[in-house]
Amino acid sequence: MKIKNICCIGAGYVGGPTMAVIAQKCPDIRVTVVDINENRIAAWNDENVEKLPVYEPGLSDIVKEARERNLFFSTDVDSAIDKADMIFISVNTPTKTYGIGKGMAADLKWIELCARQIASIAKDDKIIIEKSTLPVRTAAALRDILDNTGNGVKYQILSNPEFLAEGTAVQDLLNPDRVLIGGDIDTEDGLQAIQSLSEIYERWVPKERILTTNVWSSELSKLTANAFLAQRVSSINAMSELCEKTGADVHEVAQALGMDSRIGSKFLQSSVGFGGSCFQKDILNLVYIAKSFGLNEVADYWEQVIIMNDYQKRRFANNMIQTLFNTVSGKKITLLGWAFKKDTNDTRESAAIYVADHLLNEEAEIVVYDPKVETEQIYSDLDYLKSRSKEANRQSLKVANNPYEACKDAHAIAVLTEWEEFKHYDWEKIYDNMLKPAFVFDGRNLLNMEELIKIGFVPKSVGKPEYDAKSFSGPAIAS
Ligand SMILES: NC(=O)c1ccc[n+]([C@@H]2O[C@H](COP(=O)([O-])OP(=O)(O)OC[C@H]3O[C@@H](n4cnc5c(N)ncnc54)[C@H](O)[C@@H]3O)[C@@H](O)[C@H]2O)c1
Repeated sequence: MKIKNICCIGAGYVGGPTMAVIAQKCPDIRVTVVDINENRIAAWNDENVEKLPVYEPGLSDIVKEARERNLFFSTDVDSAIDKADMIFISVNTPTKTYGIGKGMAADLKWIELCARQIASIAKDDKIIIEKSTLPVRTAAALRDILDNTGNGVKYQILSNPEFLAEGTAVQDLLNPDRVLIGGDIDTEDGLQAIQSLSEIYERWVPKERILTTNVWSSELSKLTANAFLAQRVSSINAMSELCEKTGADVHEVAQALGMDSRIGSKFLQSSVGFGGSCFQKDILNLVYIAKSFGLNEVADYWEQVIIMNDYQKRRFANNMIQTLFNTVSGKKITLLGWAFKKDTNDTRESAAIYVADHLLNEEAEIVVYDPKVETEQIYSDLDYLKSRSKEANRQSLKVANNPYEACKDAHAIAVLTEWEEFKHYDWEKIYDNMLKPAFVFDGRNLLNMEELIKIGFVPKSVGKPEYDAKSFSGPAIAS
């Protein structure tokens, strides 16, 4: 089946960039991205492409090229469903905040709403694609809804999980390690649907990188990939504390590990902890699924990745308090970075939120500077935790537009996002305007420690020894 019309439900961090790239590479296919969030759609349609709702390097140029040619953003979900041969479902699947599975299972209510809406609108056969990350066997639930509430329309359901990483989304989409397509490989119709989707990717992805599996393998592979990546971060973070106690340097340890070709060097960067909308929710979902099959050891194994990550964030904040003479009450502390990683404006599950919350509980006066995150987003992230009133959050945490202003008169600075620009600040100027001793807590091991020490700072990095690493006269290991 030659695809002429694509609809994508969900214009978020995945739907927007993914469809922009498909539209750019397939000018003959009309791609319509729909969303119920009117503000989001208005932002995608903003004449000024620098104001798109998702910040990703390279994205604005692609949108500029394809928008109004064959890429459209709209709130008219029904009409886009009606016209499409192929529908991507790319809506949010957050952790449930209520009822059975609260705090663990994926909340599939938006997925179900999409399925019901498709069933009520569709008049001709369609290929439905799970782009959202979903629990294994969700395709069976989708099929049930579509087959039982539809009007005789035939559907093929494919799983095509998205492996892009925020911050490098465009590069990842243009040059993916692999494209995974799960489908009904036992039927002719299933194989044809897989072929239709594969042909779209083949316009720019080498065929050998397009992997076809059964639906369940595809659904589970996405959860597994995120679990493995997060596990590496928690593993190196676990070692970071041991490094601090023993005089080993986590950077050197990671380098030694990474040069082993069996291990590889990626995702071995120790930090204040991972964030982002996916790792935590996908692992919790995996844990929930394992538990629901009675696989308690499997569940416990993966849950430890989250436990370690929470510990690392808490440990970082506690270390700040301890270093600042056991109190931060009334002290100005500057947080550089609020986004969960560099080159994105996404703040979901960002470590900065939890570090700020912890310090606010200790009555710190916080100032945040982030080059891409909007002020209202910062407050809404904090308000979501419900640790204190909205007024109290706005009183004790201020957002600065200028990093030097943000750092002026601070007792300490914490680097919480690895934005490149932080490296290139005039750190002497920052030092001159701070209270002394001037502490810097580098939660991303981003800054040049030697230079900071030369200027006069007291810098602390994750996983760096608490005393001169080269010395053999550090604290003895307890016998
Ligand atoms: N963000 C990532 O890096 C990433 C990477 C890979 C996979 N994923 C997965 O992709 C999915 C989407 O993630 P995201 O980050 O793009 O989420 P997002 O919250 O940025 O976007 C989801 C969008 O779907 C819209 N929506 C929800 N229900 C709708 C409905 N019934 N009709 C129309 N629009 C609806 C929301 O308004 C929202 O704009 C999730 O399952 C996520 O786990 C995300």
